[in-house]
Amino acid sequence: MKNIKLFNMNIFITDDYEQMSQKGAEVITDIIKQKERPILGLATGGTPVGMYKELIRMNKENKVDFSTTTTFNLDEYYPIDKENNQSYYYFMKENLFDHININIENTNIPNGMAVDIEEESKLYEQKVREIGGVDIQVLGIGSNGHIGFNEPGDVFEPETHKVSLDKQTIADNARFFSSIEEVPTEALTMGIGTIMSAKKILLLASGKNKSEIIKKMLLGKVTPHIPASILQFHPDVTIVIDQDAASELLK
Ligand code: GLP
Repeated sequence: MKNIKLFNMNIFITDDYEQMSQKGAEVITDIIKQKERPILGLATGGTPVGMYKELIRMNKENKVDFSTTTTFNLDEYYPIDKENNQSYYYFMKENLFDHININIENTNIPNGMAVDIEEESKLYEQKVREIGGVDIQVLGIGSNGHIGFNEPGDVFEPETHKVSLDKQTIADNARFFSSIEEVPTEALTMGIGTIMSAKKILLLASGKNKSEIIKKMLLGKVTPHIPASILQFHPDVTIVIDQDAASELLK
């Protein structure tokens, strides 16, 4: 594993996906051990699945305790029912919550069936703030540079809000559905301000298809057209990527 420091960013380049998952889990458990009541910001997508598996293993071996942990997920499709197996609620239960000693009542995911979206967004934002903010926010990155579901655009949206998904995102996420027509076209997501208010950020990426965007987000200019580029302005960012995702950056 290589370690590079770039401004405020601590970058770990791992040999492969497994090592990325292990290193990610280590960064999270370090925070959990430091805090009496840890607040985690969590992400979905294919990338963090291995890290969640590692956290489950550590929990089963009594190496980490989630009993006092609260979580806030970045996003949820809209509209989607919790029980739908494509919902991020379902994903989180399947891939993490059902297998660790967390109190499910301390887990938060935007409500994909909210009738009043503005109210739901405001409440979500308030809840994060009232608890004192997120200690560590896990992020993946979309191939178009999105974080959460903050798609490329002309402005950085500060707070939790509803978005129309980018064509690229719908195409990328079609692999989880039986056809592209089934991919929801809208979602609720934490805003860029919500994400930036986390005390620490942990971004994970794996695979060659992320290598171009990783280079742009780290070395390009900060622009809402590449939402993840805003992380250049966050004071405490850890980036854990495998060699394939780092391949353009290292050229
Ligand atoms: C998804 C999620 C993001 C995630 C990204 C990358 O649609 N909304 O939070 O980071 O796209 O997904 P993957 O890890 O599957 O490449």
